[in-house]
Amino acid sequence: MDLARFTDQWQAQRQQLFKSVPPEGRTVRYLDKEFLVYPNTFWPFADSLPLVKHFRVEPGESVLDVGTGSGVIGVFACYQGAARVVGVDINPAAVQSATHNARMHGFAGTMAVLQSDLFEALGSERFDVITANLPFRNKPAHDVVAMSQWDTDFQTNTRFFEGVGRHLKPKGRIYFVQSNFGEIEAMKRLAQAAGLQTVELASEAVDDTRRQQFFVYEMSLA
Ligand SMILES: C[S@@+](CC[C@H](N)C(=O)[O-])C[C@H]1O[C@@H](n2cnc3c(N)ncnc32)[C@H](O)[C@@H]1O
Repeated sequence: MDLARFTDQWQAQRQQLFKSVPPEGRTVRYLDKEFLVYPNTFWPFADSLPLVKHFRVEPGESVLDVGTGSGVIGVFACYQGAARVVGVDINPAAVQSATHNARMHGFAGTMAVLQSDLFEALGSERFDVITANLPFRNKPAHDVVAMSQWDTDFQTNTRFFEGVGRHLKPKGRIYFVQSNFGEIEAMKRLAQAAGLQTVELASEAVDDTRRQQFFVYEMSLA
């Protein structure tokens, strides 16, 4: 089976898993920590590992986590010493999960979570660091759970790169996740059109077959 068909089936199964979580939520272990996910939330998974293991947040910096899901990346930014973290997600279930996890890890005073289509709810605030693990694939998403993995006409990714410069401080850094089953070349074109320099920082495989790999790119204004 080719990678695209294999990934279609695998992602559809994962979407069913996200939908089948009981109303009180389910605990997922990730690295050395636990996160609670309410139904319809994307679970902490190997895709964010290269970012979480390799991103740099200096104590006192501000961080915007776009498409925060369970809030996992934002919570790790708090552990690195961020002074302020804002997580945004279009999915209300993700907002509920990330709000819970920020509080559960003791960061209710540091990390705010907003329901927002990308930067819509942010006003004009600029951040030292912007992280994003957005849907990797250009594929129609028919509900909010599918929108965690598929991006209809790649519009969310396109709008991210069109708008990100208005929320990044001049010397700020973006950490952006993609996959070998996603749209790496399209991402690089969008980043370049936005005036960003892109460097591959790290990668991680789902398992020993290395069939599915995830990459984190560090981007900054050229
Ligand atoms: C691959 S999941 C990543 C979740 C989490 N950051 C992580 O690493 O586990 C992508 C997330 O982006 C969110 N998302 C998709 N489109 C969005 C949009 N237009 N605005 C904000 N969030 C969006 C989804 O709801 C989902 O929670």
